Amino acid sequence: MATERTLSIIKPDATRRNLTGKINAKFEDAGLRIIAQKRIQLTKAQAGEFYKVHAERPFFDELTTFMASEPVVVQVLEGESAIAKNREVMGATNPAEADAGTIRAEFAESVGENSVHGSDAPETAKEEISFFFSGLELVG
Ligand code: CMP
Repeated sequence: MATERTLSIIKPDATRRNLTGKINAKFEDAGLRIIAQKRIQLTKAQAGEFYKVHAERPFFDELTTFMASEPVVVQVLEGESAIAKNREVMGATNPAEADAGTIRAEFAESVGENSVHGSDAPETAKEEISFFFSGLELVG
């Protein structure tokens, strides 16, 4: 097992409900360290650039409108197998399918407004981290 870094986003449905601290506690309780974090307001164009792999999906417009609707908290999580561990802590994309105790089971409102995003693989983690952070901002 190796130490990894992954990109996490606390989405507008969660920032709106003041859940940043509760979600961060889930990460920290699972052994993930928050080594960078900032609260930002995305434009719809920036959300579209971030989610460009989904550009052809029917939910793309809904997704980018939602991500630009309120501030988000972008963060870098570090730890052993951080990518898989973060996905475990988040739970399934659709909260109806998420295991009990996961962030999405506890907090997500729907498949679209599902409280958190996490990178799905090492290459995407690298790309997604550099989308939001410079190397100087990562303090491990
Ligand atoms: P995320 O992990 O951020 O990656 C892509 C996002 O698209 C996903 O979480 C969901 O929020 C969103 N998404 C996936 N499927 C749907 C859907 N059927 N309807 C609306 N949004 C969706």
